[in-house]
Amino acid sequence: MFSHKIDDDITLRLLEERHAEEVFSLLEKNRNHLQDELTWLTDQLSVNDAKEYIKAGLERFAANNGLRAGVWLQDNLAGIVSVHGLVWDDRKASLGYWLGSSFQGRGLVTKSCSSLIAYAFSKLKLNRLEIQCDSENDRSRKVAERLGFTQEGILRQSWWSKERFADLVVYGLLSSEWQGGKPYTPLFT
Ligand SMILES: CC(C)(COP(=O)(O)OP(=O)(O)OC[C@H]1O[C@@H](n2cnc3c(N)ncnc32)[C@H](O)[C@@H]1OP(=O)(O)O)[C@@H](O)C(=O)NCCC(=O)NCCS
Repeated sequence: MFSHKIDDDITLRLLEERHAEEVFSLLEKNRNHLQDELTWLTDQLSVNDAKEYIKAGLERFAANNGLRAGVWLQDNLAGIVSVHGLVWDDRKASLGYWLGSSFQGRGLVTKSCSSLIAYAFSKLKLNRLEIQCDSENDRSRKVAERLGFTQEGILRQSWWSKERFADLVVYGLLSSEWQGGKPYTPLFT
């Protein structure tokens, strides 16, 4: 129903319940790759859990509280990007993202997040976007930096991951700093 073509190969689609099998299978295949970063990814995940995850994203979208979109590389679901943690009074939100391991290294998340940034600043009229990641998550840090986010600080020992209290790096991007990149095209209207 809702989709946004990024280029000839990459499409963002708002996740719907009919995508549950694909989401489940991508998560299952990539459990080892993702489990350290996606704390909700339990050993017992089922297709039904994937449905609930999708439903929560749809409710978020319906309530004008962000969105969760699948990243499709041609016909294959490659990963998911999201706008979450929206605080309307402060006009700010966070970006989230993950990819199946075999889909890394092609710019899929950077390109998808560029579109979400355009959506957040141009359509939602937000003032600030944030990305938080484990200080040792080099790939995620590079995404934030590639997108023009500024490293603003480190929340020391802020979450329990990989059997230790990990530092979280906070990156921010303000609408006044956003270059726009390309003309805004309607996305998830
Ligand atoms: C974080 C994660 C999404 C990053 O994936 P990624 O593939 O490195 O990110 P992108 O899709 O933006 O691709 C960037 C890579 O593609 C390359 N690339 C190729 N064409 C590109 C293009 N047109 N534009 C941008 N990058 C391009 C870049 O050089 C970069 O590779 P490099 O890091 O080896 O230099 C992925 O590692 C992941 O899912 N990790 C587990 C979950 C996770 O950590 N999520 C984030 C939690 S905070």
